[in-house]
Amino acid sequence: MPEKKIIAVVGATGAQGGGLVRAILADPNGGFAVRAITRNVNSDAAKQLASLGAEVVAADVYDHESIRQAFDGAYGAFCVTFYWAHFSPEKEIAEAKMLAEVAKESNVKHVIWSTLEDTRNWIPLDDNRMPTLQGKYKVPHFDTKGSSDAFFRDLGVPTTFLLTSFYYDNFINFGMGPQRGPDGKLAITFPMGDKKLPAIAAEDIGKCAYGIFKKGNELIGETIGIAGQHLTGSEMAAEFTRALGQEVHYNSISPDAYRELGFPGADDIGNMFQFKRDFEEYFTGARDLSVARSLNPELQDFRTWLSRNIARIPVGEGEATA
Ligand SMILES: NC(=O)c1ccc[n+]([C@@H]2O[C@H](COP(=O)([O-])OP(=O)(O)OC[C@H]3O[C@@H](n4cnc5c(N)ncnc54)[C@H](OP(=O)(O)O)[C@@H]3O)[C@@H](O)[C@H]2O)c1
Repeated sequence: MPEKKIIAVVGATGAQGGGLVRAILADPNGGFAVRAITRNVNSDAAKQLASLGAEVVAADVYDHESIRQAFDGAYGAFCVTFYWAHFSPEKEIAEAKMLAEVAKESNVKHVIWSTLEDTRNWIPLDDNRMPTLQGKYKVPHFDTKGSSDAFFRDLGVPTTFLLTSFYYDNFINFGMGPQRGPDGKLAITFPMGDKKLPAIAAEDIGKCAYGIFKKGNELIGETIGIAGQHLTGSEMAAEFTRALGQEVHYNSISPDAYRELGFPGADDIGNMFQFKRDFEEYFTGARDLSVARSLNPELQDFRTWLSRNIARIPVGEGEATA
């Protein structure tokens, strides 16, 4: 039996990386072994991965040598960065740069870099349709990832650039689930007008990444966009209505109103939705459902995911924003 190719997974206890770890472990004859990277091998999440059969190693993206050791001998690496852990564009750029440099030093044969668009290529900083944030970004957590593609390219790291989509899981973890308005009615709130939002189960991102690794060299150098479904706010609300058995409305607000919602990062997320709204044709076109399904035949549409996860979504907590 040939030796298994090791995939080192950054963010292994998290949403994207966790999906990849589980996908590799679920396919014991697939020819791959997984090395799950965590800062704390004793956390419940890390222990759970170990109990499933993953090699779990300690490393921190802010400790170059620890990541070098974690990538040592690996055939592949899944690289993701952690914007929402610190809300700092400069830190996220430093994380990406370090991952690219270590992948190069370690001679990793195939990197998947979890990226997003540098929206400034569509909306230059002097375009006033949305505010410039922190002096040099339109959508900080996108722009940092998109501009970091260059680290991988310039170093000649054999990379597949994976354009991800809005997680369905944000309805569980990001407080985006149906909330009750002053009228007592349930609503979900987005500034998307009647435009479609590409969305995906976070777990399916990891499964698609596994599909990319399984293709060998075929997708090196390529940018691959994935989504499980493209949905309007009304379509998402209709799916919630169906899953909950009670009416859920789509509360369509302006990007300005969204930016003013006051939660940490509301300006960044408001600009993000506006970018997706204003460039719907590009943004949905870059995330081909059939490509995602070919990489991951278990890809879930929103209805399927909701049917499995509706009990995990906080419903009716707080007031809908209007
Ligand atoms: N929410 C969305 O809709 C969405 C959509 C597309 C892209 N994204 C992007 O996804 C990225 C986050 O990925 P995710 O959602 O998979 O993450 P996540 O679920 O928040 O988990 C990230 C994991 O990374 C690890 N980590 C954090 N800081 C680290 C460090 N300094 N060194 C090493 N490991 C570290 C943590 O593991 P340990 O605690 O075990 O170390 C954590 O479990 C963000 O940059 C975000 O912009 C989000």
